[in-house]
Amino acid sequence: MNTDTARTSRFDGSTAQGDLPDFASIHTPVMLAEVLAALLPERDEQGASRPLRFLDGTLGLAGHASALLEQADARGLKAELLGLDRDAAAQSLAAKRLEPFGGAARLRQSAFADFPAALDELGWDLLDGALLDLGVSSLQLDSPERGFSFLHDGPLDMRMDPQSGAESASALVNRAPVARLKEIIEQYGEEPQAGRIARAIDDARAERPIGSTAELAAIVERAYPPKWRATARNHPATRTFQALRLAVNDELGQLRLFLERIVPRLRPGGRLAVISFHSLEDRLVKHFFRTAASGCLCPPHLAVTMEQCRCGHQASLRLVTRKALEPSEAEARRNGRARSARLRVAERIAGAFSLPALSEDLFADAGDFAAAKGRGRRDAYGRGRKGGPGSGRAGGSAGAGGGWR
Ligand SMILES: C[S@@+](CC[C@H](N)C(=O)[O-])C[C@H]1O[C@@H](n2cnc3c(N)ncnc32)[C@H](O)[C@@H]1O
Repeated sequence: MNTDTARTSRFDGSTAQGDLPDFASIHTPVMLAEVLAALLPERDEQGASRPLRFLDGTLGLAGHASALLEQADARGLKAELLGLDRDAAAQSLAAKRLEPFGGAARLRQSAFADFPAALDELGWDLLDGALLDLGVSSLQLDSPERGFSFLHDGPLDMRMDPQSGAESASALVNRAPVARLKEIIEQYGEEPQAGRIARAIDDARAERPIGSTAELAAIVERAYPPKWRATARNHPATRTFQALRLAVNDELGQLRLFLERIVPRLRPGGRLAVISFHSLEDRLVKHFFRTAASGCLCPPHLAVTMEQCRCGHQASLRLVTRKALEPSEAEARRNGRARSARLRVAERIAGAFSLPALSEDLFADAGDFAAAKGRGRRDAYGRGRKGGPGSGRAGGSAGAGGGWR
């Protein structure tokens, strides 16, 4: 592998021919050592009979992907990787970074939920490992023209793939009924002031359309009660921006579909690693892993013994991490964006098993594993079902903190 070609230059949005940007200064891969330990075997257990195959569903700038291929090489393992990203700009930078690996790295611009089509196209049946490093990259956050951040003024866009034809954040805030806006901000942002913010957006857009990140941030800030504004730990617009980004890119829907589809494409012993950055994502992963790692899911009063099991559910995953891993203190100090990261890893188990039929409804039932076992029902975001959409903050966490569990 030739890494001498990796000359560095400051990234100014473009790359001079032959020059490579300093990728690490644009985006630092999060929990890299933990991801490598989770996905890469120490040595060649296959006897070099076939290459190990990996999927990186959130390629970004290929920080994890390049390290995975590099480490595999250093350990004498043959490895191939398919990298997906919705974002064409990230994809073309990643392609440059992965050039030294030649045909071992295959890239495709695609949503990660659609990974089966990309695998089929390559003729890859089963994977030895899959990674999701959810959310947006620093490249996206720090590019004002992408409209992800209230820290930079820019058009209110937030689409990871602006060519997809999906609605931008600006179209959403200017067109959605006020009740829908409130629901989005409440559910995806876990924002206690969702109602006030939705009404403030409605008043503002009646005067003129909201077109920029700075305009929206100012509207949200003004909508916050002064006492809350004074005591808030983060900018009042933080949760609203997160909510709109999740809605615009259907991030939780993508995650749900990916989880539903990935298990059958993992080889027995193959690993799945997911890094989440907020509690909504982490809760979804946690509940999915726990359900897939469980045998019978009948409520205890129905199935006292295995013979009495009516659901027929069998485990398909083994939990490698019982609790989510957090970044080390040193990493959190070095890279502020790593602070909220949580890594969960599971391994596909061999043998006959039934895969969880992950219809939206089963997900709802599995929404809280403990609840499915008899403590009342919860929806996919862990909320009690009684109140329905908009009935409360996701996870039921009080006050300003989303709260990891
Ligand atoms: C946190 S970054 C990944 C950074 C990468 N691991 C690295 O080390 O450079 C997340 C990336 O995933 C992409 N992404 C997010 N959701 C996606 C989806 N549903 N399908 C495909 N790509 C997605 C984003 O465009 C972004 O580039």
